[in-house]
Amino acid sequence: MRKLIAGNWKMNGLTGDAIDLCRNVRDGVQALTHVEWLVCPPHIHLPLVNDVPKGGQDCSVHEFGAHTGDVSALMLKDMRCDYCIVGHSERRQNHNETNEVIRQKAERVIQAGMTAIICVGEILDERNDGNAFTVVERQIRESLPAIASADSVVIAYEPVWAIGTGESATADDVLDMHGKIRQLLESLVASGDTIRIIYGGSVKPANASELMNLDHVDGALIGGASLSADDFIAIGNAVNKR
Ligand code: PGA
Repeated sequence: MRKLIAGNWKMNGLTGDAIDLCRNVRDGVQALTHVEWLVCPPHIHLPLVNDVPKGGQDCSVHEFGAHTGDVSALMLKDMRCDYCIVGHSERRQNHNETNEVIRQKAERVIQAGMTAIICVGEILDERNDGNAFTVVERQIRESLPAIASADSVVIAYEPVWAIGTGESATADDVLDMHGKIRQLLESLVASGDTIRIIYGGSVKPANASELMNLDHVDGALIGGASLSADDFIAIGNAVNKR
């Protein structure tokens, strides 16, 4: 499977920004088919993003109904989304989302016919205490749906202390963590050897070629740098062409 280069625009930009960014990404990636590109705009901007594969940033645990302000996985699919991010650390921290809630959301995404990008990652204290993998292992065990497969799930390893800080994890740390996640996935799911494991946390053009070409690094989830089409495309360009 090709590496996945996914941009998470978070809650940024107005309509003109979304239209411009989409156009610049679309024009820039057309000839670059060695990776799979994805952009995840704010939900309200999804109709403005066309001709670039797109995904949601979150979805409801419910299918439909009286859930004011929520957006269902089926609505995202109906907007022609192929993916939906679930369990981003900003959702875990700011909306108290638990592993159980994230598992339910991932199930909704899969049932709607999309691929769930399930985010996991430790906070700095947990890393400093030597518990980074213990935390990530528990997040994966508790948030991976039983129906997960290589087509329906991507794991995004995003150390919380590296998100938006400009300080990415080191190549050694990423290699180590992704190798352990791979072993865990192999023990949990039949297609665990091919489920994509992408890295997120201050990925930028300057560190992309070092991080993106490591074993078991199957792409990137990019926040800040995805708001610049040039930087976003440069990250995908840093992936070795085989
Ligand atoms: P960042 O964000 O690239 O700005 O660190 C990554 C993310 O939140 O997915």
